[in-house]
Amino acid sequence: MESILNIRNVNKIYQSAGRELNVLNNINFAIESASTVAITGPSGSSKTTLLGLCAGLDRASSGTVELNGIALEKLNEDERAAVRNQYVGFIFQNFQLLPTLTALENVMVPLELRGAKNIKAQALDLLDKVGLADRSHHYPVQLSGGEQQRVSLARAFSNQPAILFADEPTGNLDAETSEKVIKLLFDLNKDAGTTLVIVTHDLELAARTSRTIKIKGGAIISDENQGYAE
Ligand SMILES: Nc1ncnc2c1ncn2[C@@H]1O[C@H](COP(=O)(O)OP(=O)(O)O)[C@@H](O)[C@H]1O
Ligand SMILES: [Mg+2]
Repeated sequence: MESILNIRNVNKIYQSAGRELNVLNNINFAIESASTVAITGPSGSSKTTLLGLCAGLDRASSGTVELNGIALEKLNEDERAAVRNQYVGFIFQNFQLLPTLTALENVMVPLELRGAKNIKAQALDLLDKVGLADRSHHYPVQLSGGEQQRVSLARAFSNQPAILFADEPTGNLDAETSEKVIKLLFDLNKDAGTTLVIVTHDLELAARTSRTIKIKGGAIISDENQGYAE
């Protein structure tokens, strides 16, 4: 099976108040194209840091992060941004929509960046898929948390990413809204054939993926296939 993501001997050190903080220690794993993976672990175990390195949002202090065969540590900031736009979707716990743009405009941003055609029609189609066609001209503040996260799902899928990272996508949502967002996430994912990597505390959500990587104190403590996937 082909790997979309290959992490080898990755370490991350933050400089904090003049001290070195080693938050990721010798991380190794590969993720197969089109698979679904959960990353779980207690708060502060460096899940967000790890996801940021995998997605090219941040750089490892040492080691290799290879996304679709491209070694990210060899790239500068602009080159990494181009790789992200080409291959990566990202969903944040706190949505991170641009507050000055409407729902429609937020979904259009990645499409504009890559110079796609029929941008508006594509964005409207995605908003329709997440059930928000009638909210396209609303600004983020005019939307509920669940609606904002559905806009961010539409945005994350808009550039047809090869791999999609979601960092506690339901962490700020109530149980009922979470269930709707997760169902949408897996449905959109099935349609698009995207590789999905989800950081979550929700064991039910983790169980819906085909593999769970557990981290603790910045190191992998287990990595198991569930033998079951959506
Ligand atoms: N920019 C930063 N500078 C210094 N320390 C950081 C920075 N970002 C995160 N950390 C530290 O790295 C550790 C892991 O954080 P994080 O990746 O956010 O964990 P998690 O997502 O698992 O809760 C924490 O101890 C946190 O304080
Ligand atoms: Mg986190």
